[in-house]
Order: sequence, then C-alpha cells, then structure tokens
Amino acid sequence: MINILGIESSCDETSAAVIQNGKCLSNIIAEQKVHEQYGGVVPELASRAHQQNIVPVVDAALKKAKIHKTELSAIAFTKGPGLMGSLLVGTSFSKGLSLGLNIPLIEVNHMQAHILAHFINKLDGLTPSFPFLCLTVSGGHTQIVRVNDYLKMEVIGETTDDAAGEAFDKAAKILKLPYPGGPLIDSYAKEGNAMAFSFPKISVPELNYSFSGLKTAFLYFIKDGIRKDEKFIEKNLADICASYQQAIVSTLLIKLEKAIDQTGISQIAIAGGVSANSGLRNSLLQLQETKNVKVFLPPFEYCTDNAAMIAITGYYKFLQNNFTTQSVTASARWNL
Ligand code: KG4
Ligand code: ZN
Repeated sequence: MINILGIESSCDETSAAVIQNGKCLSNIIAEQKVHEQYGGVVPELASRAHQQNIVPVVDAALKKAKIHKTELSAIAFTKGPGLMGSLLVGTSFSKGLSLGLNIPLIEVNHMQAHILAHFINKLDGLTPSFPFLCLTVSGGHTQIVRVNDYLKMEVIGETTDDAAGEAFDKAAKILKLPYPGGPLIDSYAKEGNAMAFSFPKISVPELNYSFSGLKTAFLYFIKDGIRKDEKFIEKNLADICASYQQAIVSTLLIKLEKAIDQTGISQIAIAGGVSANSGLRNSLLQLQETKNVKVFLPPFEYCTDNAAMIAITGYYKFLQNNFTTQSVTASARWNL
C-alpha cells in the first residue's frame, strides 16, 4: 500500500488529503471566509489562517481516511507557485512531519497538480491519454500545457497579464459581489442572455492570452451604464454576467482550438478553479461535437484548490523515487 498525505496551502485554502494507491480516501478543505469583504486574498491574513487550520485539517484528513500517521509512505506538499507566506506554512509543517515520522518528502508544483487531478481515482477510458493538451485556468494562471507524461509537461501558451480567474474576480468586485466572484458570475450567468452586451475580443500573438484589456473595458462599460441609469447593475445583472462570461470563454476557446490545430493533439482537458465554470464546460462539450476531439472535464471537487491533487502528484513522484530533502524551501514563482 502506498499512502500519500498531500498538503496544500498556496493561496487561501488549507487542505490535506490521503491518496492510497491513486485512490482518494479523504480530501479536507478549510476555506478562509475572512477575504470575502476585501475583494481579494489578503496575504497576511491568509498565512495566519493557514497556521490555525493546518493541524486540525491534517488530523481530519487522516481520521476520515482511517489511516494512522505511522502508515503514511510519504508527505507531498505544495512548494509553489503561490503566496510566499501561505506556502511557508504548508512547507514547514510538511518538513517537520516528514522528519518526525522519518518518511520521504515530495515537493509538488501546484499547476502540475491541477492537471494531474484528472488521475485521482483513475478509471480507464475516463482519463486522458498522453499526449494531451490541458487548458489550466485558475486565479493566478492561464496556460495551455502540452502534457507528454505524468511528470513531463510544457507550457505552449499563457497569459501575458491577468489570469482568467482574475478577470472573473475583478469584474465581480466592480459589480460589488464578494470574493471569489467567479462562481457567483457563473450562477447569475445561467439566468442571463450572453448576447445582451458585447465586449472587445483582445488578441495577442501565438497561443498567448491577455485579459487586462477586457477587465478595463468592463469597468468603463459599467461606469457608462451607471451614468445613464444608477440601477444599471441591478436591472441587468444576469445579462451582464452572461455576456462577460461568454467573452472570457470564447477568448479561452480561440487559442485552445488554435493549439489543437497546431499540435494535432485530440485529447483535451481543462483544469484549475475556472474549469468549474459551466459556460466553459459547455463550450468544451460543444467543441467535442464540432472538432474531432475527446474532452475531459475534472470532477467539480477537484477543480478549485485541494490537497487530493497534491497527493496524486506525490503518488506519481513516489513511484519514480522523486523525493526532496529537508533543505527544500517554498517558491512563490515556479514554472512548470
Ligand atoms: O485553482 P484555484 O482554486 O486557485 C488558484 O490556484 O488560483 O482557482 C480559483 C479561481 C478564482 O479566480 C475563482 O473565482 C475561480 O477560480 N472560479 C471560477 C468558478 N469557480 C472558481 N470562475 C468561474 N466560474 C466558476 N464556477
Ligand atoms: Zn490552484
């Protein structure tokens, strides 16, 4: 039996999970409500909350999995990328526990883990086969990744400024919705007309993205609407959300389709927090109809930040004896 304890603390979720031979036994996530009122994650508050949460979260993950800490084979933790103060909590805790239990320590790249979330509870035929393309869309990243093997990946396109999740969250802030606004825009969009308003399509070269111009266009669109009618947002919230979501999703799809054409790869996956977005998921399913591709959508519970994805990455690294040492440190920036 290979039992991997995964620990995630890169942003505002403290999470611990146990993966046994690739199967998820527990995945405990403590969200931090404290950021809601600030319209974004406050790093100092995030690291303090991680410090408070980490022991009970790990304890709950072991109990739920019915695994005693002495049965663990290794500890996998998020080394980066992310907020330095947050990463340090998970990194230090993992180093201490691995030393105490005298078991190997495995460093995990958070973006690689989002992609490998597809292999949690791997079922033949329901997981992508190599090579596949993965559109990784989160609060901090937007990348098109060519995945050659579990641990061999290359970024072939990425955002030159804001991430797709940021584009959702910043628009939500303009609409005075609490953080994180992505899921709220998604739910309002379900009631709205995506053709009601149009936003500029911002194009950058190759397989790259840019979302900062869209965000600025959105700000001026709302300001203009309020100038004409102070109840503009209230009266049009669903249509505004549907149209803006559509603008983000279609931008994401254009480059993904270009990547499919350029590489000839027909196994397509999405990952990261924004992969929970229903507009994006539906568009991918449509892509399956219009292009000769097979699409893989991650289960909702593994889209946003969680430790099961860290543990599954740890599992594949464990199989390759890919361990790190006690001298490891957290890295706020760490490319795939
Ligand atoms: O992967 P994640 O949990 O954290 C990072 O690694 O950044 O992604 C969080 C991002 C946030 O920007 C959040 O608003 C967005 O994912 N998100 C969504 C949805 N669920 C989460 N965006 C749009 N629609 C959703 N349903
Ligand atoms: Zn993430």
